[in-house]
Amino acid sequence: FTGHKWQDPLPRPGVMTPDSRKGGVDHYEISMTEFQQQVLPSTMGDKPTTLWGYGGTYPAATIEARPDRPVSVKWMNELGTDWQGNSRGGEHLLSVDKRVHGADHGAPEIRTVVHLHGGVAAEQDDGYSEAWVTPEGKTTDDFAAIPDSPVAYKQTKEYPNRQEPGTLWYHDHALGITRLNVYAGLAGFYLLRDPVENSLPSDEYEIPILLQDRSFTSGGELQYPDGTDDSFEAEFWGDVPVVNGKAYPCLEVEPRKYRFRFLNGSNGRTFNLKFYNEDSESYDDAPVMEQIGVDLGFLDDVVTVGPGGMVPSLLLSGAERADVVVDFSDFEGEEFILDNGTGIPYAGEDFVPRGDDSIDVDMREMLKIKVTKPLSEPDNSIPSDQFLKVIGKKIDRYDFTPEVTDTDITRTFSLDSATLEVEEGVEYDSHFLDLSLWSDEDAVVDPELNTSETWEFVNTTGDSHPIHLHLVDMEVLERESFTWNDGTGDTYAQHAQDYINAYAEYLENGGMKPEKPDVKSYITPDAVTPPTPNNTVKKDTVLVNPNEMLRVKVDFTGFAGRFAWHCHILEHEDQEMMLPFEVVE
Ligand code: C2O
Ligand code: CU
Repeated sequence: FTGHKWQDPLPRPGVMTPDSRKGGVDHYEISMTEFQQQVLPSTMGDKPTTLWGYGGTYPAATIEARPDRPVSVKWMNELGTDWQGNSRGGEHLLSVDKRVHGADHGAPEIRTVVHLHGGVAAEQDDGYSEAWVTPEGKTTDDFAAIPDSPVAYKQTKEYPNRQEPGTLWYHDHALGITRLNVYAGLAGFYLLRDPVENSLPSDEYEIPILLQDRSFTSGGELQYPDGTDDSFEAEFWGDVPVVNGKAYPCLEVEPRKYRFRFLNGSNGRTFNLKFYNEDSESYDDAPVMEQIGVDLGFLDDVVTVGPGGMVPSLLLSGAERADVVVDFSDFEGEEFILDNGTGIPYAGEDFVPRGDDSIDVDMREMLKIKVTKPLSEPDNSIPSDQFLKVIGKKIDRYDFTPEVTDTDITRTFSLDSATLEVEEGVEYDSHFLDLSLWSDEDAVVDPELNTSETWEFVNTTGDSHPIHLHLVDMEVLERESFTWNDGTGDTYAQHAQDYINAYAEYLENGGMKPEKPDVKSYITPDAVTPPTPNNTVKKDTVLVNPNEMLRVKVDFTGFAGRFAWHCHILEHEDQEMMLPFEVVE
């Protein structure tokens, strides 16, 4: 890419236009199609990439919504034909690993179900992994060998938007191929906003920034390890930064404030971000990020991120969002790189600056920002802290939050890796929640509607996992590190593997259910650390580091019904690191 970086402008996702606005509902009809788009720098010549996307672009155009104004979307899977209009013959754009659950039993390769990540919607509208549909309109009901979905397929999904403003996004969620469908391009922003937000930097000064990594063939096509190679199973990392659908883009800004909505939409990569001043070669000589919001809404107070800030860098694992205001007014003429100071796999390390090679940072430069545009008008946007005080009051008027009864229920779940034998001689390295399989009805926990519980996640693996719960809001209580009683964790790993073998056998053939090793009897708790201030409340995705027990308070509000929770490393999710939960009345 030498000589080709930072040549093309950072694309700005378009905005979806509703097909109708009847009865107080914004209705959209959105097709999933295959198309080509120049993702690689244009200076490399005409090398379009074949992609899948919503509404014909990658990333998709943004759905703009308002709290308390419902949106409905008729989602249409038109992926049966390729970009030239020929039939795909039922074949996926990428190669499908049929060992993985949901992709087995002769499941059709092309199937989709849309999930609004962060949305509070009923189970049929949420995008249950098994409630997929093919381009021909077929569902699990049409395939005798495939278990029926406990949640029925529904084409037109309704999003009530009875929740606070926030940076939501929509992406595919089909069982066994979510990693492939999202990698192919099926993702877009869904911004739930209040008109009062216009006092922040808005319109052209508000930019959603989707950060992803991709790999390409020499011809410019997407590259993803094929399903016959055991090595892909761990997690996918690309070698090219792609931001808003463009490799190595450049954003030219005016010397004023901007609002950036960062979203990590990668399959497996965690980013840890900081601005680097290219002229002075320093991290300190760069604007601070004033973080005003997280996944599901605004913070009570500004959290400053960067030089001299409360938090040194912006850690963003898969699916996490950060709403930040950045003031470039003191930096006229200067150039910055959005630096990613971490490597793969992410395992809880601090930001690694340039020149420090304590870990291998394989994807340092994400985006260039040049403060080279003249100021076109005075910047009248409201200071971030003042804004949070105003919006805080305005949000109260919505009053969506029902009475929540706190319970003393604490559930402990281990995050594990082990080998899974799916049939005689066919196995792959997999990841698990609570050493359970998605298909096991006994693994479905059933919190009560309008109650809160404490969930603790015990990470027994060597890398960090972003844990996402659909439907709910989480508050991070604390992080507790632990040590293994045997010094290495090998005893637990062996017992976990033995258990998985016996458990898979039991699910297949019945008999006596084996006894699950109790992870807490293998560890000794150590230091407790509070969460960072920008990773405490209004979270739908929380990152759990190795040798750490993360405790969250979960409010089960909104809807009763069946939803998913999973690791947002999409390869792990497609393996077995996903379970249903059922909110009961
Ligand atoms: Cu962003 Cu269950 O997903
Ligand atoms: Cu994971």
